[in-house]
Amino acid sequence: MPKKNTAIDLNSTDIFDIQKTMRAMRRLKPDPVPYQLIEQILEAGVSAPNGGNAQTWRFLVVTDPEIKAAVQPYYKRAYDEVQKPRHDEQKPKTPGKALDQHIRNEAAIEYLTNHFHEAPVWIVACAKGANSVSSLSGASVYPAVQNMLLAARALGLGATFTARHIAFRSEVDTLLGLPEDVSSFAILPIGYPIGKFGPTRRAPLSEVVRINKWDNPWPG
Ligand SMILES: Cc1cc2nc3c(=O)[nH]c(=O)nc-3n(C[C@H](O)[C@H](O)[C@H](O)COP(=O)(O)O)c2cc1C
Repeated sequence: MPKKNTAIDLNSTDIFDIQKTMRAMRRLKPDPVPYQLIEQILEAGVSAPNGGNAQTWRFLVVTDPEIKAAVQPYYKRAYDEVQKPRHDEQKPKTPGKALDQHIRNEAAIEYLTNHFHEAPVWIVACAKGANSVSSLSGASVYPAVQNMLLAARALGLGATFTARHIAFRSEVDTLLGLPEDVSSFAILPIGYPIGKFGPTRRAPLSEVVRINKWDNPWPG
């Protein structure tokens, strides 16, 4: 039986505990990550479901500081020009828990934005032939991304699903040296976390699940 949302052991490698504590870990130490761990993460990635088992995913592991430093300004530009204004609009207007949470979250997002290139390793999840089947390509890459995030968490590594660079995808893909028929869909900055893992915050099932009829919420 899957566990209910009770106390979670942060050192557990039980799949249900891992899922519930796999939040975005945006503050990372610059210490290198052993090659074997990266390989374990990649093996988890390529175990994921994908359309027709065509395995059109491609992964670029980036440890070169120059390449990461060249890409980071685009990630930051996407924050400054697109994400930050949107988040500012969504900022709760009155003091309280929600505002405090928003401020904490935004600080973490801004931290990763400024330190993106300092993560010791990036895994750039890409799809081959993405230009011809654009809307479905991500669907065949993102399950691998999720598997890799779970694997990183199980290995005690922090990581974040990032896709904001897509606002400047062609510039970023050029800097990454991707071939013409390969496009990036996510960049996972990975490293040992500075902070502690903790539970994700999500709405209860009763808010997001219906059973049989749309006006019939999940009773849990
Ligand atoms: C498609 C997608 C794109 C995302 N892009 C970014 C990103 O560019 N930068 C970032 O810091 N987080 C990014 N995230 C992470 C989400 O912000 C995060 O999962 C969400 O706020 C919930 O927080 P939690 O995972 O820590 O619980 C992305 C998540 C998804 C699914």
